Amino acid sequence: MIKENLYAISALFDTPDSIMKAADNISTEYKRFDVNTPYPVHGMDDAMKLTPSRIGYFTISIGLFCMSFMLYFMYWSNSVDYPQVIGGKPFFAFPAYVPIMFEITILTGAVLSVAMMISVLFKFPNNAHPLHDSGYMKAVSSDKYGIYVEAKDSNFDYSKLEKQFKELGASSVSPIYYDEEEVDWKPNTWDPKFVIGTIGIAILTSFSVYMHMNKVLFMVPFDWMMNQERADYGETSEFFADGYSMRVAPVGTIARGFIPYQYDSPDSASKYMTNPTVASEHNLELGQRKFLTYCSPCHGNMAEGASRLKGNMPPGPDLRTEFYQNFTDGRFYHTITKGKGIMAGYESQITREERWAIINYIRTLQKAFGTPVVKTEEEIAENSETKTEASE
Ligand code: HEC
Repeated sequence: MIKENLYAISALFDTPDSIMKAADNISTEYKRFDVNTPYPVHGMDDAMKLTPSRIGYFTISIGLFCMSFMLYFMYWSNSVDYPQVIGGKPFFAFPAYVPIMFEITILTGAVLSVAMMISVLFKFPNNAHPLHDSGYMKAVSSDKYGIYVEAKDSNFDYSKLEKQFKELGASSVSPIYYDEEEVDWKPNTWDPKFVIGTIGIAILTSFSVYMHMNKVLFMVPFDWMMNQERADYGETSEFFADGYSMRVAPVGTIARGFIPYQYDSPDSASKYMTNPTVASEHNLELGQRKFLTYCSPCHGNMAEGASRLKGNMPPGPDLRTEFYQNFTDGRFYHTITKGKGIMAGYESQITREERWAIINYIRTLQKAFGTPVVKTEEEIAENSETKTEASE
């Protein structure tokens, strides 16, 4: 007598040839069946009339979906939320995204397909299957070739199938039942076993992370990064012959991208240097700021030579006069860098860019407040005469 909780009817065969014949025969009539053999039997796919799996469609769709999301996310983070110039590339640097898009497609496609199979097809958290632990499964894992047809198949008829299997030469035919408790099994989130198991895993994970981050990383040999051989300042060095642990760069060392100032007189600076900056708004603003900080105490806020130092230092000259209008930028630069007389050099306080900005700013003050250099007609004529003479 067949019980109600029937899962399938199974048959065992003794040779690969007989199972092939059985698969070929059964597949013409039934859809919900499967074959189990101890090793892959060649030609079985054709005998079972298997079509390519449809899981691939799921994999490619979910992969492409996640890829588009990733592309949008990279666009959003690099162009909208936190735009940064990286290596002079555009914010939306598509070629740089391609490897990530490729990886994400594969990663999400593979992982989510497996997750879908476990949860949807295998009905996780149910981890039982009627075939598990059956005599049928034991036999096909060792030396028999098995086939079974599920009771769910629309053409299913136990006695008809039993006869059919016998005719095909089955050595034994037997029913396979669901576990008693599995028949009307429903996932239950509040099942005490499930709840206790989940809490147990949470406690174990937290404990393990806590121990790793707070204890293990401070233990030998995982604490290497914390206990490094190093010399503190002022400490005697046992390595260097002179005993100093603080080292100075060898004589003549030049910092990367930095050419030391190389002119020793205002004349050579004047002759060989030109201002590499443009008096843009930003540049003049920088020049003004630096001028007011470093130069105005002695030269006055408008470079007019009004010192604020109340005679403690001789005031600097008015830098707007015709005399200084005729100074080249290189000569100004040399004065700022090396100083002049009692005025100290500013090589270490003011960067090179700032020095040029200060010069641009002084030029602006000269134009605004300086002595207008008006030439009489005679002077102009004189000038052009000398020029013509020179060219002749
Ligand atoms: C501590 C006061 C003081 C400060 C600060 C100062 N200078 Fe001077 N500066 C002087 C004095 C004094 C002279 C005249 C030096 C001399 O002729 O011996 C001078 C001269 C100059 C000259 C004329 C050099 C020459 O060859 O005639 C220039 C240009 C100049 N300063 C620019 C600047 C600039 C630009 C700054 C800001 C970076 C600055 N100074 C900051 C006191 C100062």
